[in-house]
Amino acid sequence: MQIEGRVNDLLNRMTLTEKVGQMCQVNGDGEGLKDLARRGLVGSILNLTGAETPDRARVTNEIQRVAVAESRLGIPIIMGRDVIHGFRTVMPITLGQAASFDMALIEEAAAAAAREASACGYRWSFAPMVDIARDPRWGRIAEGGGEDPLLTSRLGAAMVRGFQGSDPSRPDRIAACAKHYVGYGAAEGGRDYNTTWIPEGLLRDVYLPSFHACVKAGALTLMSSFNDLNGLPASGNPFILRQVLRTEWGFRGFVVSDWGAVEEMIPHGLCADRRQAAGTAAAAGVDMEMVTTCFADHLEALVNEGAVPITVIDEAVARILRVKLLLGLFDNPYTDEGREGELLSAQHLELARRLAAESCVLLKNDGALPLAPGIRSLAVIGPLADAPADQLGCWAGDGIPGDTVTPLRALRETLKGRCDVRYAAGVEHCRSDSDAGFAEARRLAADCDAVVMFLGEDALLTGEAHSRAFLDLPGVQEELARTIADLGRPVSVVVMAGRPLALTGLADRVGALLYAWHPGTMGGPALADLLLGITSPSGKLPVTFPRTVGQIPVYYSHKNTGRPPLDSARGGPLLSRRGDPELAEGPPAPSSRKIPMGTPLDPQGFCSDYLDVDHDPLFPFGYGLSYARFAYSHLSLSRAELPIGETVTVTATITNTGKVAAEEVVQLYVRDLVGSVTRPVKELKDFTRLRLAPGESRQISFALHTDQLAFHDAASVTRGARDQAPLAPCCGGAAAAMQRVVEPGMFHVMIGGDSEELLMVELTVV
Ligand code: NOJ
Repeated sequence: MQIEGRVNDLLNRMTLTEKVGQMCQVNGDGEGLKDLARRGLVGSILNLTGAETPDRARVTNEIQRVAVAESRLGIPIIMGRDVIHGFRTVMPITLGQAASFDMALIEEAAAAAAREASACGYRWSFAPMVDIARDPRWGRIAEGGGEDPLLTSRLGAAMVRGFQGSDPSRPDRIAACAKHYVGYGAAEGGRDYNTTWIPEGLLRDVYLPSFHACVKAGALTLMSSFNDLNGLPASGNPFILRQVLRTEWGFRGFVVSDWGAVEEMIPHGLCADRRQAAGTAAAAGVDMEMVTTCFADHLEALVNEGAVPITVIDEAVARILRVKLLLGLFDNPYTDEGREGELLSAQHLELARRLAAESCVLLKNDGALPLAPGIRSLAVIGPLADAPADQLGCWAGDGIPGDTVTPLRALRETLKGRCDVRYAAGVEHCRSDSDAGFAEARRLAADCDAVVMFLGEDALLTGEAHSRAFLDLPGVQEELARTIADLGRPVSVVVMAGRPLALTGLADRVGALLYAWHPGTMGGPALADLLLGITSPSGKLPVTFPRTVGQIPVYYSHKNTGRPPLDSARGGPLLSRRGDPELAEGPPAPSSRKIPMGTPLDPQGFCSDYLDVDHDPLFPFGYGLSYARFAYSHLSLSRAELPIGETVTVTATITNTGKVAAEEVVQLYVRDLVGSVTRPVKELKDFTRLRLAPGESRQISFALHTDQLAFHDAASVTRGARDQAPLAPCCGGAAAAMQRVVEPGMFHVMIGGDSEELLMVELTVV
C-alpha cells in the first residue's frame, strides 16, 4: 500500500486516545516508558540512552519492540536526539562549520553523524538550527550558521541532505528537524528565550528563508521555537505554522514544539492554563508536544467538548505517521545491533579533521604563522591547549572527551624528534582569575623559539541558556596574553569559542590570531596542520566580530540610514582608535573607555556613529586571511542591463599571488540602490570555494538571476487591505499580503574575499 493509503488506514483504526498518544513526545529513560509504548500513548521518545549503557541500539530496540509487538496497532516510535554537530565523532560547532563555506563537506559531516546516531537507534535529529543570529551575546549563536540568510539557508539545506539523503528509509539515515521556527535568534538583548519583534518584511527576507530552504531540501520535521514573536509565542502562532509553513510552502512533515514550549505559553501570558495551552498549540499547528504533557492531559477532552476539531488531530497524526513511514520505521523498526564499528570510524575522523581545518579563520598574521620549520622549541600556553571536553563545544553529549585529540597532543605527535613542545597552562581554567601561573608561562615563553597560546571560552559558556553580557576573553586570559606578548617574542594566539569575542585588546598585541571556534574531536590535528603550514587557513567569518559589546547589533547587511558614518568622522578625531596615541598603546577594556573632556564635535560628526569607538566592526562578515594572498581583478558583467526574469553572468579573475597553494572563498554581493522600501547596503548572493596554486589565476563566474534580487515590499501601506485567511497576522494590525518583488533600477554587483574589500560594477535591472 502506498504511504497515504497506509496513513488513512491507520487513522481509520485509531482511537482518539491513540491519536493523541502519537502527538506526545516523552523524555528520557523513565520507568513507565514500556507501559506508555504498550498502550500506544507515545509517538516519540527523546534522549533514550539507557543511562550509561554502552549498547544504545539494544536499549532503543527494547522499547521499540514493545511498541511494535505489544501495542494494539503496532505503530513504531521515532527516537530523537540532539545530533547537532556530529555524534560520537564531534565535528566543529555549527557556527564553525558555516565558516568553512563548504557545503559539500558540511553535507558529508551530517551524513556521518546520521550514520553514527542511527547505529544507536536514533532516527531523528533536532538539527539543523537555522536561526539567524546577529547578537553574539546569545549563547546559541554557536549552534547555527551565523548572521546571513543565504549562508544559513545553504548550510541548513546541506545538513538536511546529509541527514536524510535521497532515501530517508535507509537504516543509516535520520530525519532532520529545522529549528527553531522562527525568530528565536533575534531575542532581545541576546538573552535566551527572550521576546522578539520582527516586522513581516524582515521576517520574510531574513528570518524565514533558511527554514524555507530546509523545507525545499525535504526536511521531514520542524521545531517551533520558545520565543514570543510579535506578541504570539511561536508555538501558538498560526501565521507562521499554518499560513507560511503549510499554505505558502506546502510543508507535509510535522512540527514538534520545543521542550516545554507549549506549557510555557502560560508564563508568556497567552494562555491561562495547560488546557488552553494544549488547544492553542494544536490549533496553531504544533503536531507533537515535546516533554510537557498538555496534549496528553487535555487534547482528548478538548476534542470531545468540541473545542478542538477532530480534523486538527487527524491532520497532525497523519503528518507524524507519514514521517514514520518515510523513515521506513513500519517496515524496519529495529536497529542492527552490530553497527558500533561505524562510530568514530577512520573516515569520520578524517572528515572531522578536514572540516575543523576549513572552519578556522585567520584573523591576523604579521608573519608569525605558519611557525618556522626550523624551530627547536615551542611554548604552548593557555587553558584550551589541552582541554578535551571544552574543545568539543556545546551540545556534544554523545562525544567522549577521551576521544578528543587536543592541540597539545597533536603538536607533540607531529613535531616528535624535531622540536621540543613544552606546555604551561598559565591559568588553570578559562574563567580563572588567578595570575599564579603567569610567571611559569613567561619563563617558558622566554625560553622557547616560538609561542602559541590557546585561549577562549570553555564550552559551558556557550549554547542554550548561556548568554553573556561581556564578550571579552573570560578570566585573566587577556592579561596572560599581554604579559606573554610583552616579552617581545612572536606570539600566535588560537581562540576557541562558541561566539565572536570582542578581541580588540588582543588583536593589536599578538603576531597572529587564528579563530578555531570549538573545533571538535579532531580539532588538535587540524590546528597542528594549520599552525605548521601543512594546510593554509581558508575559513571566512559567518558573523561580524564587534570591537566591543556596545556596538551590538553590528552586521554587514545593515541599512545605510540617512546619515551614514563618514570615514573622516569615525569616533571624532580625538577618539579615533587609529589616531589616538593613548589608545594606540592598546585600548583599555571597553567598560573603562573614556570620552575626553572638551572633545571637539566635528561638524561631520552628525552621523550614525559612536563617540568612543569606531562604527565599523573589528572583523567583517566574510573575512579571513590565508598563508597565500589573493588578488581580485577584471570584474565584468555579461550584460549591463538585465530584464526581470533573466540572468546575468558575473565574472572576475582571482590570482594567487602568494607562495603557497591555498583555498579561497569568493563572495558575490549585491546592493539595490533605491527600492520601494529601503534595502541593505550589501547582501550576499553567492559564493564558491576554489583552490589555487601559487601564481595561478582563475576566472570565476556566477549566474545571477533577477529572482535573487527579490525582497518583500511594503504591504498594506501601498496596496490596501487584501483578503487573507482568518488567521492572526504575525505582525498584528493590517492583514494585507506582502509581495515578493524585483524592482527595476540600479544595482551594485560586488565580488571579493570578504564583505568589505570588494570590486564593484553597476547593473541596471529593467
Ligand atoms: C531545547 C532546545 O531549545 C532544543 O534546541 C533541543 O533540540 C531540545 N531542547 C531537545 O533537547
